[in-house]
Amino acid sequence: MVLLGSTAPLLIDINLILQYMTLILLVIGYIKRKPFKTHGYLMLFVLIITIGTTILIMAPRLLITLSSYGYPIIAHALLGIISIILGSLFAIRFILAVRNNRPLTCGTKIMMRLALVVWIIPILAGTMMYITLYL
Ligand code: HEM
Repeated sequence: MVLLGSTAPLLIDINLILQYMTLILLVIGYIKRKPFKTHGYLMLFVLIITIGTTILIMAPRLLITLSSYGYPIIAHALLGIISIILGSLFAIRFILAVRNNRPLTCGTKIMMRLALVVWIIPILAGTMMYITLYL
């Protein structure tokens, strides 16, 4: 709709904006990893926004836009689900570590980097699909 000057429904513009907010937070969280507690809470917040927008906006839209986007949207959804699973595993380990006063080593550096990359791809792919369909 009018929000970003495209033909997309308002909710889709809101989703795009929210995904870019999470991208900024992800990058901040990646650059500023210490203290680990702040990093953990920031990433938990990003995960909650992503799960929320997936359940409330993107998953229902999948049923409507599947025929327009085709295979790319299936790849997008699969990668999105993988990043949510990875993020949830870190989040569960983080919450348990905080609760039990254990060291906050919730994942290896390589796994964190992998999660970041797998997270960024659906954002970029989603943006390309948005541009193709609505601009
Ligand atoms: C880390 C997880 C994910 C991220 C960062 C992400 C990001 C994005 C972005 C930036 C867009 C473009 C904005 C828009 O068109 O609304 C988008 C669109 C979309 N996403 Fe995701 N997404 C994720 C997971 C998922 C999952 C798991 C599904 C399906 C179950 C999904 C389904 C869709 C659909 C159908 C659209 C197109 C909406 C439309 O044009 O009507 N996404 N996503």
